[in-house]
Amino acid sequence: MYPLIRNRRLRASESIRRLVRETLVTPDDFLVPLFVVEGKGIKEEIASMPNYFRLSLDNLEKEVKELWKMGLCSVLLFVKVDEKLKDNKGTEAINPNGLMQRAIKTVKNACPQMLVMTDVALDPFSSYGHDGIVAEGQILNDETAEILAEMSVSHAQAGADFVAPSDMMDGRILTIREALEDEGFQNTGIMSYSAKYASAYYGPFRDALDSAPVDIANVPKDKKTYQMDFANRLEAIRETQMDIDEGADIVMVKPGLPYLDIVRDIKNEVDVPIAVYQVSGEYAMLKAAAEKGWLDHDAVMLEQLTAIKRAGASIIASYFAKDFIRTLG
Ligand code: PBG
Repeated sequence: MYPLIRNRRLRASESIRRLVRETLVTPDDFLVPLFVVEGKGIKEEIASMPNYFRLSLDNLEKEVKELWKMGLCSVLLFVKVDEKLKDNKGTEAINPNGLMQRAIKTVKNACPQMLVMTDVALDPFSSYGHDGIVAEGQILNDETAEILAEMSVSHAQAGADFVAPSDMMDGRILTIREALEDEGFQNTGIMSYSAKYASAYYGPFRDALDSAPVDIANVPKDKKTYQMDFANRLEAIRETQMDIDEGADIVMVKPGLPYLDIVRDIKNEVDVPIAVYQVSGEYAMLKAAAEKGWLDHDAVMLEQLTAIKRAGASIIASYFAKDFIRTLG
């Protein structure tokens, strides 16, 4: 007789598949990245990110109210900084009345329960487009960490719930944690971009913020001396463990889909929540293929999001959050 076990019984109808499904993506899983610009009434589409926009503060207010209504409860803020305000040390980043600080207040006023996370890195503020201070062709580590700590305190003062350092300097989580404690922000959390790879998938994001490393003599044009080599796996676990030891509440793997092996490795090693950033290039790829009619947008999106969660993500930072909600009907 044929074996008594037939796996297809559990796939025979949508009802039984629903009953035994192991992984379910829900609105609670999403962290929604938002791009903020100066001005009024601005909602500019980002060329390489169809249907994704840079928003001025008035439109940011509308957007977060809409997100909240849709059941999305966390945002991750990025700002596009005027060229005139950029310098090597990212001085504008700690301006108490800077765009990021006003954006935080705008979200909290519009929607007090919305969880606000902020990007902490120098690149949008840096005249060189780097995540740290540039000196003699190097990206300075410890001096940068000090600025990131000041930036974190400034975001906490403006009302951020979590700061999210995305720079990959060594030791910055401890520097930031200590600064937050010293200033009385013991309840402000840290989501560390702990395994962040030097990836070409960030291209559209750098268009969105005009933050790509610039082409000048003696300044490296890539981020390979601080972001991780995509050939490495064990290093990701070490980086993540160190960030947890230094005080990270949430750790992150970035990019998403091409790095799900890393997500699973880390999931097997640590017990803090893991965030996965499905980055701008991943978004652009699916939008482009769908536009050409080569892929079914919603079906592939759902498959990708589910794969990210199945790999071990508790949190998915994704430009598809609203598209996902739309599919729920
Ligand atoms: C900046 C930062 C980047 C992203 C998030 N924070 C770009 C970079 O490191 O160059 C990328 C996000 C995306 O591509 O969606 N520190």
